[in-house]
Amino acid sequence: MFAHRRAALLKRLDRPLVLFAGGFISRNYPANVFPFRADGTFLYYFDAPEPGSAAFFDPADGSVTLLLPRRSLDDALWHGELESFEQAKARHQVSAVVEVEGLEDFVRQKSKGRQVDSLAVSDWKATQRARALTGEDLAFDTPAKLGRPELLDAIAAQRLIKDATELAHMWRTAEVTHEAHLAALRATRPGGTEQALVGAVEGVFARHGCVPAYNTICSVRGEVLHNHGHANVLHEGDLVLLDAGAEGPHGYCSDVTRCWPVGAFSPEAKDLYDLVLEAEVFAIAQVKPGLRYRDLHLAASRVLARGLVDLGLLTGSPDALVEAGAHAVFFPHGLGHQLGLDVHDLEAFGDRVHYPNGRSRSAQFGLAFLRMDLDLQEGMTFTIEPGLYFVPQILRSPDFKTRFRGQVNFDRAEQYLSMNQGRGFGGIRIEDDVLCTAAGAEVLTRAIPKTRAELEASAR
Ligand code: GLY
Ligand code: MN
Ligand code: MN
Repeated sequence: MFAHRRAALLKRLDRPLVLFAGGFISRNYPANVFPFRADGTFLYYFDAPEPGSAAFFDPADGSVTLLLPRRSLDDALWHGELESFEQAKARHQVSAVVEVEGLEDFVRQKSKGRQVDSLAVSDWKATQRARALTGEDLAFDTPAKLGRPELLDAIAAQRLIKDATELAHMWRTAEVTHEAHLAALRATRPGGTEQALVGAVEGVFARHGCVPAYNTICSVRGEVLHNHGHANVLHEGDLVLLDAGAEGPHGYCSDVTRCWPVGAFSPEAKDLYDLVLEAEVFAIAQVKPGLRYRDLHLAASRVLARGLVDLGLLTGSPDALVEAGAHAVFFPHGLGHQLGLDVHDLEAFGDRVHYPNGRSRSAQFGLAFLRMDLDLQEGMTFTIEPGLYFVPQILRSPDFKTRFRGQVNFDRAEQYLSMNQGRGFGGIRIEDDVLCTAAGAEVLTRAIPKTRAELEASAR
């Protein structure tokens, strides 16, 4: 399967390509490293790649050479014996395996004066080596410098459409994520801590040989969208927002958000929870090949806007409110993003991939955070994750108060900011992982309790 993917890429290449897996990244002193995580593209073309490896694709003769670190006694002593080059050649079904220490000489010899392409990866040392090797101005954190556009297009065309094996991995991480969310739900009690819930979640991941696909978000301050602090104590009436997903050994990810109260849902929380759920279920039901994701985002926004009008938080027609972006003071982010080997799959490739066909990102507050505007295709996997948040800095901003005067009921919003004994309402997000099929949406994370009744039943 990996060889098949490489063959498909080779067909689209018009010059040699060197890919880097990336290596260990140090936490402090060089020998103390973070767990190794290969670059997503390398993981797509090679099963369980080694730290420090690279690969040379040559479209002239259809060969793929894997370059692995030289085997040494020291390594065997400290890290255990690695598979031999012969074993690696057989396992990966590549043309040859050679020492990565000789990469520069090898590439010079094989490329015979042809321009060679590469891709920047998060490991800056590997990227530096790629720059020196190909002469390209590569940088990982600048999409325009990730690699040659034609190369990005070729890789993205493959990676955006998931095959059966990839989907099997994603179903499995969804199962582990399900168990983790249940563990947190059942561990929730007044006087407990966010940190204890994180421990429950990540303990489940570890027991299944998984890691968090991203820093777990677990907070009673759900309005802080990517809140990575876990220091709060849980009080009766707080809403817990858990955004946590497992990543399997193959690198595929889940990305799931659920919310539940400490104790019972307040009347305000019931209304807002059901509204976010309505928007989420509505958006999932619209999914079909050909649907433009931005239109889905806007349609879900109108569902939220209509509900916020009913609750007295917005005034006006949903169409006009969404057109003006007034709903975004409560729903300030995008509806979702691609999901796969990277949690925001291929985000490093930039808007070239996610806003194709001359589309460009809106500058409007809220819509500017919409991470993709693709036409959905069968085999794409992505998230759907609407939310509603009471962010003091937004709802008390003089600028927003002027801009949305008459559309946003700021006095009413203030009641939510001061409820829950002054701790504020917080935020609600509901996020599922969705596969687009010919028949519509298949929800990979559908088993995870989502309605209030399901959450209440599962908490026991
Ligand atoms: N967990 C990050 C996100 O939902 O995009
Ligand atoms: Mn997400
Ligand atoms: Mn998430």
